[in-house]
Amino acid sequence: MEEMRLQKYLALCGVASRRSAETMIADGRVSVNGVTVTEMGVKVGAKDVVRVDGKAVKPERNKIYIMINKPVGVLSAASDDRGRPCVVDLIEGVNERLYPVGRLDYDTSGLLLLTNDGEFTQKLTHPSFEIWKTYEAVVRGEPNEGNVKRFAEGLTLDDGPTLPALLTVIGHKGNNAIAEVRIREGRNRQVRRMLEAIHHPVLKLRRVGFGPVELDPDLKPGAWRYLREDEVSKLLGAARANE
Ligand code: URA
Repeated sequence: MEEMRLQKYLALCGVASRRSAETMIADGRVSVNGVTVTEMGVKVGAKDVVRVDGKAVKPERNKIYIMINKPVGVLSAASDDRGRPCVVDLIEGVNERLYPVGRLDYDTSGLLLLTNDGEFTQKLTHPSFEIWKTYEAVVRGEPNEGNVKRFAEGLTLDDGPTLPALLTVIGHKGNNAIAEVRIREGRNRQVRRMLEAIHHPVLKLRRVGFGPVELDPDLKPGAWRYLREDEVSKLLGAARANE
């Protein structure tokens, strides 16, 4: 943390607005490293102990929630020991350490959330919360009603049966189909393996929805934006609904 004026520090701690913090200082209610401070010019940093009315205060950690349109050929990771490009490298101008919420395959694009809020990540990725994820897949051939039924019943993969899932053909691309797939698990390469199991292998895969949040159509691959407050609370609400 960079050094900053005491009143800004107090505002960051959530103690008061900057203006009210100035009044608190002038009233002699604030001490820095045991010494009461009544002037405004004092600067403080991470090593200083600041107290208000004798009680130590610390800045609230700035919680950050981001949606990115992950391009193909980028790892869903904060770093890679093999030097491959990582999704976190695409976020410029944010000083907090960010982590992806779950993963998308190297060759999958689309909606990925990034945050520094571990509790948020835990809620949205823990299997027990069963958040629905929506994918758009270009598949070889065209799935039929029988395939849709198999998805709805759940099908068996080499690591066991899946939960019921949704498969809908939403378009065509030459001899191939565009399918919407919705699953509420997050097993390794699950959508690809489910479509392989019905003999319609994936040619292209993109995630378009994570729980109640949709990929912002204005975000080109590699672009990102902060989640709005209503999106963060809808996500937490979706996890809570399954608690
Ligand atoms: N399912 C997959 O097969 N790949 C992903 O990246 C996400 C879900």
